[in-house]
Amino acid sequence: MARETSSTQSYSEKWYWDDRYTNESDSFDWYQNYSSLSPLINLYLPPHPTHRSLVIGCGNSAFSEGMVDAGYEDVVNIDISSVVIDAMNKKHSDRPQLKYLKMDVRDMKAFEDASFDAVIDKGTLDSILCGSNSRQHSTQMIEEVWRVLKDKGVYILVTIFVVDYVLFYLFNAIIFDFIRDLSYLPDYIWSSQLSASAV
Ligand SMILES: C[S@@+](CC[C@H](N)C(=O)[O-])C[C@H]1O[C@@H](n2cnc3c(N)ncnc32)[C@H](O)[C@@H]1O
Repeated sequence: MARETSSTQSYSEKWYWDDRYTNESDSFDWYQNYSSLSPLINLYLPPHPTHRSLVIGCGNSAFSEGMVDAGYEDVVNIDISSVVIDAMNKKHSDRPQLKYLKMDVRDMKAFEDASFDAVIDKGTLDSILCGSNSRQHSTQMIEEVWRVLKDKGVYILVTIFVVDYVLFYLFNAIIFDFIRDLSYLPDYIWSSQLSASAV
């Protein structure tokens, strides 16, 4: 396996995250934690007993725990790293509101169409944009996010990239490939003021 990529380019690779999570057992939140983002999350996704949320590329972040503590009752988490999913399953085995599944966000066929009220992405599109074939991979990812979201569902994206850059990928995937009715577009929440705290 080619591992001669630069460190940020490796952010899109499963081996990189497996290695990293093998050596990093404490929880870590990229960019912002739940408590600082909760006003924004609450605004677009108030806790609701029947709502189902999907956190993509969850890593070992405590974000979903924060959601459950705040009253969200069905928070599904996926990550490409089996190492982190095993660890999170072990850690949260006593919290039925939290589910952890090993899955590639570019291929979420285990989920039905229109099965989530919200998709939350903190740093995962960013990781894919760092890697090779980023245009193709980000398009696959956005198409899958779009597919699993219900009508009027929300895609909450916390990104370190400038908004115009990410918009290009979203519009490329959703508008030009699908040519959908604009009124069905989910809301997008942009957080572009984050400091560059990625390690
Ligand atoms: C920058 S970290 C963010 C982790 C977490 N969301 C947070 O905010 O702390 C990116 C995460 O995306 C995951 N990831 C990268 N590519 C992925 C893919 N194709 N499918 C699912 N997860 C992926 C990585 O394993 C890693 O946990």
